[in-house]
Amino acid sequence: MRAKVSGTDVKTGGIALHNLQKRYGSATAVDDVSLSVSPGEFISLLGPSGSGKTTTLMMVAGFELPDSGRVLLDDRDITRLPPHRRELGVIFQNYALFPHMTVAENVAYPLRMRRVAKAEVEARVRRVLDQVHLGALASRRPHQMSGGQQQRVAIARALVFDPPVLLLDEPLGALDKKLREHLRGEIKTLHKEVGKTMIYVTHDQDEALAMSDRVAVMHEGRIRQVSAPQELYRRPADLFVASFVGEVNLIPVKLKSGVVYGGAGEKLPAAPWPDADGDATLCVRPEHLHLDPSAAGSSHGIPGHVVGRTFIGDATIFEFRSDSRLRLTSKVLNISAKSMPDVGDACAASWAVSDATVLTE
Ligand SMILES: Nc1ncnc2c1ncn2[C@@H]1O[C@H](COP(=O)(O)OP(=O)(O)OP(=O)(O)O)[C@@H](O)[C@H]1O
Ligand SMILES: [Mg+2]
Repeated sequence: MRAKVSGTDVKTGGIALHNLQKRYGSATAVDDVSLSVSPGEFISLLGPSGSGKTTTLMMVAGFELPDSGRVLLDDRDITRLPPHRRELGVIFQNYALFPHMTVAENVAYPLRMRRVAKAEVEARVRRVLDQVHLGALASRRPHQMSGGQQQRVAIARALVFDPPVLLLDEPLGALDKKLREHLRGEIKTLHKEVGKTMIYVTHDQDEALAMSDRVAVMHEGRIRQVSAPQELYRRPADLFVASFVGEVNLIPVKLKSGVVYGGAGEKLPAAPWPDADGDATLCVRPEHLHLDPSAAGSSHGIPGHVVGRTFIGDATIFEFRSDSRLRLTSKVLNISAKSMPDVGDACAASWAVSDATVLTE
């Protein structure tokens, strides 16, 4: 959505959260959350149950008031504005359609509340129903539709008054996996078409990585990292993010003058760490961990044995136990008939320097 400001096109729908704080009794639900969302950006709030995602979104929507901090929409302070005056589209998990109304009536509701003229309502409802591919079902009632179709009605209803920002709280949570993946694609396509800012709450990391321009990972009311999906996966900022987003091997290491050593004093592949000493954790994704029987007994990597091998269709998962009793997981795609180690084989576990992240918290 664009607004004309002194002759130039300016994109609207930028959201800025400044030091948001929300307590319920003695518990802090949202703790000093700051986040800047650009106009047209798709950003996810990702985190486990109870991490403060919904509370954060509700403060943006205006259904919860922060104890302190500010919410800005395009540099306008809306912290204390009631929800209906914020003009933000909100979509909840349980879609909450009116059961006695048809699809068209449900979608028209926000416009009727705003006293838009009848002809205009009809035209806009038709347009937005076409956008979500429900034009043919306009006269159905919610109970005559599938869960995915009802969810699309909820999206149409949030889009119909053309808000610059859509807030979505686990909108696909109640649907089965196949449908979720399908609608994920549809929401993404819609995002490209309508160009609105979207703030999307989910606890599903695949969903967040697949859909978002950036992901904000939340834990215990705080944002732990805000990054593009690839960066989040490749360069987690802390142990929580490393373990919450994807599978990861966490290897306890010692840093001595910036060099990384394993439990048996062996030097491990990792970029030199700036002049640090002490305990740290090395993060290596299973698909980056290589088990090499031919390097067993050499000084390369971590020495140990394969203790498990599981075929999972597209890949094979290896369980590895180091001589120092560390358990690691390696994932190898089944793309060719190449030989793979067997249970009991001695191997060295290693990885490329660029695939390891050192965390010193
Ligand atoms: N109205 C309320 N009264 C008291 N505590 C609340 C209230 N709403 C949320 N909380 C608490 O605040 C914390 C954050 O809740 P929130 O609903 O924001 O989490 P969430 O990340 O959305 O979790 P989920 O993935 O389960 O939806 C939780 O500990 C929750 O119990
Ligand atoms: Mg929630």
